[in-house]
Amino acid sequence: MKGRRLIKMAIHSFSHPLASYFSRTKESYRIHCESKEHLPGGVTANIKHFAPYPIVMKHGNGAWLTDVDGNDYVDYLMSYGALALGHGHDRIQKALQKQIQTDGTYLFGTPHELETRFAQKIKHYLPSMERIRYTNSGTEATLLALRLAYAYTGKTKVAKFEGHYHGGYNEMLYSINPDEQQSGPFDEPYTVPESAGLLPGGEENTLILPFNHPEACDRLLKKHRQELAAVIIEPVQGGFIPAEREFINRLRKTTEEEGIVLIFDEVKTGFRSSMGGAQTVYQVSPDITTLGKVVGGGFPFGMVGGKKEIMDVSSPKDGSDVFDTMQSKNSSAIDTLFHSGTYNGHPLILAAGLATLEVLESEYEKTVDFTEDLRMELESFFKKKSVPMKTIGMGTIFNPIFTIEQVNHYRDMKKTNLQFRKELDLHLINEGIYTKPLNRYSISTAHGEKELKQTMDALHRIFKQK
Ligand SMILES: Cc1ncc(COP(=O)(O)O)c(C=O)c1O
Repeated sequence: MKGRRLIKMAIHSFSHPLASYFSRTKESYRIHCESKEHLPGGVTANIKHFAPYPIVMKHGNGAWLTDVDGNDYVDYLMSYGALALGHGHDRIQKALQKQIQTDGTYLFGTPHELETRFAQKIKHYLPSMERIRYTNSGTEATLLALRLAYAYTGKTKVAKFEGHYHGGYNEMLYSINPDEQQSGPFDEPYTVPESAGLLPGGEENTLILPFNHPEACDRLLKKHRQELAAVIIEPVQGGFIPAEREFINRLRKTTEEEGIVLIFDEVKTGFRSSMGGAQTVYQVSPDITTLGKVVGGGFPFGMVGGKKEIMDVSSPKDGSDVFDTMQSKNSSAIDTLFHSGTYNGHPLILAAGLATLEVLESEYEKTVDFTEDLRMELESFFKKKSVPMKTIGMGTIFNPIFTIEQVNHYRDMKKTNLQFRKELDLHLINEGIYTKPLNRYSISTAHGEKELKQTMDALHRIFKQK
């Protein structure tokens, strides 16, 4: 109670951030209005939108972004965590140039050596990915993971966790950010649609599970075991709420016993929770892993890997082509899971991804140390201001949250003071510190002392204004 009162006092003593936001981002506003004539909502992805209007960026360099009005920002969004080396890292630029020079082309449309070399590198860090397929996004990766699970098990339903995001398509567009009134009891959540245009009846095929509630998960998985092909999970919810060890161990055990494929969606956590993702931290081996973001080095990319007996469902039978009308009598198209893509295994993206991993090999630990310093500085700042706040996260991702209560899942997160956080984020933008309001902080190898000082100075200015 005392905490809530202190936060209320802090909110009331803030000046309102919008007047300053409008006055310093006039060109962003103009472009936003113009773009709405051409792009729905003026954006190319719904997540890029926020109120009152998103800032239009023009240049990036290291840990910094510059907008179209000429304002500079320390960037903590890092393209939703994709940019582990910051903006425009020269190692990536050189890798791209070298790849073009040696290949003489941008795209082969045939197998090429880097496809195998990249897979070997990934398997070094994530040995559970015994066989790997490349995709063009994280969304495509989770979709392929589900299709593999359906094909392998012959079952047709999937379970996901309340508050977890895996991309925008029919099975996964449920209970990502559900309204409290609609989401039912915590230990048996309802399946709440999150989009227009979902196929009728889709709700029956997606079971919603409560994160960090081992007993309820066990019960629900056992109840639906005959229909469930897979459970998909962000092992660290949103990249910042860690699974409890007992919960994740039990999930592994139950899915194994019940013949349900366990998919770790490590699109956010891969090469961020640790170099080997969250599965290395927990020492839990999923059946399938999906990756994206960091491994693409800033380019559109995703990966699916897992147990060879599951992944090999997508392997063309020797000597047969998927659409070959002369197929042998012993096999037919439906023996194989069809997976394709003109750009899969794009040489330039693999080169950018490999360069990223090579830099992280020497700079990951330093980046974790910086993340921890920043978290400590932020916590100590708000403690001095008597504002109840803490940071939660793992590796190079964290989130500042305004509560002192334990936050274990989506519903706990909803109870934190999001209004205060949103206003603070707008104030921070006005002071040159950027993340999309309410988003987690993703740290890159480019963040350092200068950015830390800039952040703390901005906070001091904001709280002095009150
Ligand atoms: C855990 C997770 N899975 C899947 C996706 C979808 O990836 P993409 O945006 O590359 O399609 C995201 C994107 O934020 C994600 O965080």
